[in-house]
Amino acid sequence: MAQTKTRIETATAVSIDQAGALIHDGRLVAFPTETVYGLGADATNGKAIAALFQAKGRPKFNPLIVHVVGIDSAARIVATDDRCEKLAARFWPGPLTMVLPRNRNCPVHELAGAGLSTLGVRAPDHAVAQGLLAASGSPIAAPSANRSGHVSPTTGRHVMASLDGHIDMVLDGGPCRVGIESTVLDLSGAHAVILRSGAVTEKDIADVIGPLGAAGTQESTAPVSPGMMGRHYATGIPLRTEARDVRPGEALLAFGPDPLPGAETTLNLSPSSDPVEAATNLFAMMHELDRPEYAGIAVMAVPDEGLGRAINDRLRRAAH
Ligand code: TXA
Ligand code: MG
Repeated sequence: MAQTKTRIETATAVSIDQAGALIHDGRLVAFPTETVYGLGADATNGKAIAALFQAKGRPKFNPLIVHVVGIDSAARIVATDDRCEKLAARFWPGPLTMVLPRNRNCPVHELAGAGLSTLGVRAPDHAVAQGLLAASGSPIAAPSANRSGHVSPTTGRHVMASLDGHIDMVLDGGPCRVGIESTVLDLSGAHAVILRSGAVTEKDIADVIGPLGAAGTQESTAPVSPGMMGRHYATGIPLRTEARDVRPGEALLAFGPDPLPGAETTLNLSPSSDPVEAATNLFAMMHELDRPEYAGIAVMAVPDEGLGRAINDRLRRAAH
C-alpha cells in the first residue's frame, strides 16, 4: 500500500486540535488512552474506517470499539438501558466497554461494527483521548494501534514501530496507566456477559448490576468467540462468491469496471476496483440485495490481497 508520512507529536492543546481536524477529515490518528494506544478514525465515516482496517493489515473485519465522551454521547448511537447507565455512572470514564444494540438512525458506519447489530462503546479515562473526542466532534472508532499480529502498544514509540508509514499522526501522551485493554461486557441480551476480561472485574460489575451470565449461554447478538460469528454474517438468501455468470433471478454484487450482464439488479462495490471503496460499501450493499424477491446474490471476485482479504472473509462467511 502507499506509504504515508507519519508525524509523531507530543500531545498539547495545539497538536490535539490538529489531530481532531485530521480525524474530522477522515484521516487516521493514534492516541493514548488509559489502557493502550488506540488507532482512531471518525466512526461515522466509512472510508476512514476502511482505511483503518487497511492500516491494521488484518485479514478480516473485527467490530471496533467506539469511543465517546460519556453516557449522553453513547445514548446517541446505542440503546442504553438501566444496567448500562449504572455501570457508566460507576466506571466511566474508564476501562469498561459495553456492547449494546445500535440505535435506529445510528450515525456510526456499519463497517465500524463489522456489520453486527450491536456496537461496543466506551469513554476513555485519559485527558488526551477526551480532548481528541472534543476536537474532532465525532465518536471515534479505535482498535489497539498495532498492525495485526503485533502486541498492543502502550507508548507512542510502540505505535511508530508497528504503524509508521501507515497512519497520519501519533499523539504521544506518554505511557498508558493501565497497560491492558478494557473489559468488554455484552449487555445486548438479558444477562450481562464478559467477552474479554480487563481492569474492571466480574466482581466489580456484579456489585453494581448483580450476578452475570456465563459466557456462551445467553441469547446474545454479540459474537462470544470468533467461531460463533459465522451465523451472524449469513444473508437471508443464498450468496455465491467469485461468480463468473449471473443465474436466473439473481442480483449481482459487482466489482470493477465490467459488471457481469444479465442481473435483475446490480450494485457495484467499486467501479474503479478500489478496495477501500468496496469495503465502505460492502455491508450496506449486502443488506440492500438481501431480499426474498431475488433467487440469490452473485458476487464477482475481489482480489484476495490487502483489504480484499477482509472483504473475502466476510463474503465467505455470508456464503455459508
Ligand atoms: O482498551 C481498549 O479496549 C482499547 C482502547 C484503544 O480503547 N481498544 C481495543 O480495541 O482493545 P480492539 O479492537 O483491539 O479490541 C476490541 C474488542 C475485540 O475483542 C472485539 O471483538 C470486541 O472488542 N468488540 C467490539 N465491538 C463488539 C461487538 N459489537 N460485539 C462483540 N464484541 C465486540
Ligand atoms: Mg487489539
